[in-house]
Amino acid sequence: MKSSLETIAARVGTEPDLETRALSPSIHLATTFARDQSGNHSGGFVYSRLENPTRQKLELALTELEGGAKAMAFSSGMAAANAIFQALKPGDRILLPHDIYYGVKSLAVDFFGSWGLVVECVDMRDLSNVKKALTVATRLVWLETPSNPQVSITDIRAVSTAARQVGATVLVDNTWSTPLITRPFEFGAHVVLHSITKYFGGHSDVLGGALVFAENDDMCSKVSAIQQKAGAVLDPFSCWLTMRGIRSLAVRLERQCRSAMILAEYLSAHPSIEQVHYPGLSTDPGHEVASRQMKMYGGMLSVRIKGSPEGAKQVASNLYYFANATSLGGTESLIEHRASIEGPSSTTPQNLLRISVGLESVDDLIADLNQALQLVQK
Ligand SMILES: Cc1ncc(COP(=O)(O)O)c(C=O)c1O
Repeated sequence: MKSSLETIAARVGTEPDLETRALSPSIHLATTFARDQSGNHSGGFVYSRLENPTRQKLELALTELEGGAKAMAFSSGMAAANAIFQALKPGDRILLPHDIYYGVKSLAVDFFGSWGLVVECVDMRDLSNVKKALTVATRLVWLETPSNPQVSITDIRAVSTAARQVGATVLVDNTWSTPLITRPFEFGAHVVLHSITKYFGGHSDVLGGALVFAENDDMCSKVSAIQQKAGAVLDPFSCWLTMRGIRSLAVRLERQCRSAMILAEYLSAHPSIEQVHYPGLSTDPGHEVASRQMKMYGGMLSVRIKGSPEGAKQVASNLYYFANATSLGGTESLIEHRASIEGPSSTTPQNLLRISVGLESVDDLIADLNQALQLVQK
């Protein structure tokens, strides 16, 4: 029987254990696995850096959810990004979106720049910028949609088509959407990256990352070797926590996306707000593309507060339900002044606050934002 993605997600890791019939997966902490009398690893496992039964369960689930051929779980989203960059060689060009998550940009520019990777950043909302920047030396085109923190939308199909013409690998950071909202392989991407730390984990208690490959191609083999040899693998307990998180992903996302839409509409009409960035709003520049490639519009939005940057910081510090903290995708709502955490090289507007919508009642969230915004109106 063909299952929907929501059903696949709800059942991750729940098939009965062959020995005990347990409906929750075992956490295999063993680092090594015994050979049988003939000297073979007949159990299928050798050493946990290479493969681990709990990690394998999670990797198979991620492969199925994204509709790919192979997944690898890493110790963080950044470790997954690092493995991709390590698979490239000096002189290779990589194309990044101008408003990409600042950690990935910094890793590419500050570390891999001196290893010989040539990094270029363009505004990918305009396809002509991508086409102009592509050369035969472009080996990797990185998309992040919606982007962090300006929530801008990139047309995955259009960029993938252009990138494939020069033979570049297309990677989509799908952290903010998850496959329940967008499945990048259906639009032509080769690789999907996740910070498991966010929606998959879903409870702000797992640090992890993943790469999923559409095909078992050369890049996939190289990155798999890097995962096993460099060893930044996800530990078994975090794999188990991630599978537990994925089982409730569909209901969490449904609620978070619904509340984000209500908040976006409310804040758009608020006198203290200059602009709301949320692709669910029909006035948002990304709305049309988002409607084509997203099933829901996501649980993240950004707002620009009228007045000084100090006013924006004051709003973030005076909320009751929204914790003033970095990260996103958990059950609790978070808010953050991104320019502060990104540092002096940040290109994020100084009056921008990023909001991760949690599972609280949306009425409480509205009341909370309203009282904090009133403080800056005074
Ligand atoms: C879009 C995106 N990609 C990747 C990462 C990095 O993930 P991690 O913090 O798990 O290393 C983050 C972290 O905030 C992110 O927001």
